[in-house]
Amino acid sequence: TTTSASLDAVRHATHDSAFLKACRREPVPHTPVWFMRQAGRSLPEYLKVREGIAMLDSCMMPELVAEITLQPVRRHKVDAAIYFSDIVVPLKAIGIDLDIKPGVGPVIAEPIRTRADLARLRDLTPEDVPYVTEAIGMLTAELGSTPLIGFAGAPFTLASYLVEGGPSRNHERTKAMMYGDPQLWADLVDRLAEITGAFLKVQIEAGASAVQLFDSWVGALAPADYRSAVLPASAKVFDAVAPYGVPRIHFGVGTGELLGLMGEAGADVVGVDWRVPLDEAARRVGPGKALQGNLDPAVLYAPAPAVERKTREVLDAAAGLEGHVFNLGHGVMPTMDPDALTRLVSYVHEQTAR
Ligand code: CP3
Repeated sequence: TTTSASLDAVRHATHDSAFLKACRREPVPHTPVWFMRQAGRSLPEYLKVREGIAMLDSCMMPELVAEITLQPVRRHKVDAAIYFSDIVVPLKAIGIDLDIKPGVGPVIAEPIRTRADLARLRDLTPEDVPYVTEAIGMLTAELGSTPLIGFAGAPFTLASYLVEGGPSRNHERTKAMMYGDPQLWADLVDRLAEITGAFLKVQIEAGASAVQLFDSWVGALAPADYRSAVLPASAKVFDAVAPYGVPRIHFGVGTGELLGLMGEAGADVVGVDWRVPLDEAARRVGPGKALQGNLDPAVLYAPAPAVERKTREVLDAAAGLEGHVFNLGHGVMPTMDPDALTRLVSYVHEQTAR
């Protein structure tokens, strides 16, 4: 079919990119760079096209999604694009009543707290997210040899928003369910794993060259609880997309004690925040995985020489890795100077040119 022919063309065009080579732990011409949240409020061109359009609405407008996704690629010359969306988009797509409140984050109208509530989490089909397939089709045509990263929220982080009803510092209600009704919790994260796996498949079949599973808030858990209550669900997501053979990246914040388990869940590339140096992270993750990270985002507020010095530290710690994708330890912040990010990309490329 035409679809599989164009998918083959995308695979072929992106195959030898520095980003995919680093994910596969092959030699690279330079260390590839991209930034979590590279598309968004740090860019004036983003603020301009988003004017008067609500965040969730913008995620459902294919042309706008494609434009916003391309903005940081044009401006910063990063080695990969990340699909512009949000982790709650698939939940909205299956009919969960939610909104993304500016300055707050996702807010759920009726939180999921009982067994009866689980029935609201129905399966996701490609027909629920036609705008994703359409936007990715437009994007791969424009991106050429630059890979597109698809993404989703991991079961724990999605469950936290659904159970709490919004952002949470301590995840009290989430943990109350996890410890108090382990079977309900297991069924909830298993449902979310089904939905998330299906959502990532849609992105890969439309042309995404890699996927990242964001478990942003899972660092709130001790390793033993991660292993019993979270790992099986995250592993189910990774298993669902394994047959495609595209690199699977797994990231969370404050996950120093969980890095080995996050690799075990099925990631090919483990994302590391700024708290653990990459050489130490590699010891925790073990062989056979690439690492992604891990400059402290706040370093970008320091003068250029300090940014270079701290970047050099990251590159030095990464020198012995099997594969390294340079990134920040968490997302770009809205008040960051975009020029500092552009300079950072060219500094990493220059310093690592082989
Ligand atoms: O460039 C990219 O990385 C792609 C875009 C992207 C967004 N959200 C756009 C967005 C990605 C990958 C996400 C994922 C996401 N969303 C995560 C995981 C990544 C992480 O940072 O840990 C999480 C936890 C969310 C939930 C969420 N959505 C939060 C916490 C917020 C910020 C709320 C605020 O206003 O400060 C959002 C909204 C959101 N998602 C914005 C963007 C650009 C800001 C809203 C806007 O621009 O109007």
